[in-house]
Amino acid sequence: MGKTIIISNRLPVQLQISEGGIVATPSVGGLATGMKSIHNSGESLWIGWSGLTDEETPEELNDAINIALEKHNCSKVNLSQEEMEGYYFGFSNRTIWPLFHYFMEYTEFELDFWESYKSVNQKFADAILENSDEDDIIWVHDYQLMLVPQMIKEKRPNAVIGFFLHIPFPSYEIFRTIPWREELLSGLLGADLIGFHTYDYERHFLSSVRRLLGLEVSFNDINIGNRVVKVDSFPMGIDYKKFRDAAIAHNALAPENRSVLQKRLDDHKISAPDTKLILSIDRLDYSKGIAKRISAFEYFLNKYPEYKEKVRLVILAVPSRSNVPQYQLLKKEIDELVGRLNGELSTVNWTPIWYFYRSMPFKNLIDLYISSDIAWLTPLRDGMNLVAKEYIATRIDKTGVLILSEMAGSAYEMNEALLINPNNFEHQAETLKKAITMPKKEQMARNMFLQKRLERYNVEVWAQEFMTALKNQIENNEAFVSK
Ligand code: ADP
Ligand code: G6P
Repeated sequence: MGKTIIISNRLPVQLQISEGGIVATPSVGGLATGMKSIHNSGESLWIGWSGLTDEETPEELNDAINIALEKHNCSKVNLSQEEMEGYYFGFSNRTIWPLFHYFMEYTEFELDFWESYKSVNQKFADAILENSDEDDIIWVHDYQLMLVPQMIKEKRPNAVIGFFLHIPFPSYEIFRTIPWREELLSGLLGADLIGFHTYDYERHFLSSVRRLLGLEVSFNDINIGNRVVKVDSFPMGIDYKKFRDAAIAHNALAPENRSVLQKRLDDHKISAPDTKLILSIDRLDYSKGIAKRISAFEYFLNKYPEYKEKVRLVILAVPSRSNVPQYQLLKKEIDELVGRLNGELSTVNWTPIWYFYRSMPFKNLIDLYISSDIAWLTPLRDGMNLVAKEYIATRIDKTGVLILSEMAGSAYEMNEALLINPNNFEHQAETLKKAITMPKKEQMARNMFLQKRLERYNVEVWAQEFMTALKNQIENNEAFVSK
């Protein structure tokens, strides 16, 4: 086998052109942070969009851009503004994303979006064929590129192709509403192995394949005539060591070397030692349940007023997909909710919510993780949610409480967390109280199990298991064909 080619819409770095030249910043999101660790540790080429549209790329900078990307072992697919509108902001994020997260009311079925999605997927497939050798392993990622596996297989029937979906796969009843449902399934079936975060997503996919394409499904094998496509679940892990080492290093920093944010957090601990910090970190996305979380916080403070001035909610929301109307509306809603709650409940000594709407460098993310007594993550639907895992990995002394939505893929593996239904405010209020008052001994007992599991099933093991299953599948298919 040759090298591994990773393909995703977004590269692990995003380029911007500033006065000083080309600037590369790390991409945010579970796919990018998870796969980056794999990419950095091995010999792979990553193909994707650079963050700059054709219109934002001056001709004379093209070579410099390619060189900047080569440094990260990346190669770009050029996309115009129009393509981004139809394929990315359109079909990917106004059709598939809301539908696969069960937001039917936000889902738009637009023929133009679909046409753009098809042609951009073809562009990615062509870029892969051009940049790879026959014996390379091709690993396609996520919902933006579901047609790519079939497009490659058509041109290169012996290509070894894996596909991993980083978001939920919805139930058949939801999936079947898409006008182009058969094409999407057939696109995916170009792969030899299709991976999901959880068994439920896998089951939903198999059910759609059986009912919409009428294919023979035996356990988790799909017989498509000349070969068998394997489907399996691989819950994605994190780079446990990276987060743990970063937390150890941060804890060891002399006060004068700490970041401004860390100093502020330290001051907070000293001036209000009894006040618990509750942390939430998400991309600003309606699937993350940020608005509901703020309302649930208000409900909690009204139900248990004795916790006023004793808790503070820190919300870090990273700007995301701001050209999509639903994201703009959500931003407005959150601004208003935070403003109203702080306006109504703040005292001279206390602001209930600290709200940051920005991306933060890795070191500040660690500052927040290590300084927070509780992480409160309430997605209404989430493929995995790596933030939950990262929080636990950084708890060096094993204290800290994770409150996690049962609608997140990670909840399946994190039973020792306090699991909640984000729509149930009453239960969340009780859970917050439980978290605030949980004895350290219990916190440590719960986190010990969580950390062991995260350390063992880290992102490297995740990728290895996927790759091993892919190679096994190729061998099985060779045996299948020669029968
Ligand atoms: P999603 O993939 O839907 O965004 P996840 O929780 O799975 O959700 O992944 C989010 C990833 O983005 C995490 O790995 C987290 O460390 C990273 N991240 C979140 N917020 C920031 C931020 N402000 N700056 C940099 N990285 C961030
Ligand atoms: C989720 C998706 C990724 C995506 C990321 C950030 O993690 O699964 O495919 O890259 O969100 O979203 P964006 O649209 O900014 O790439």
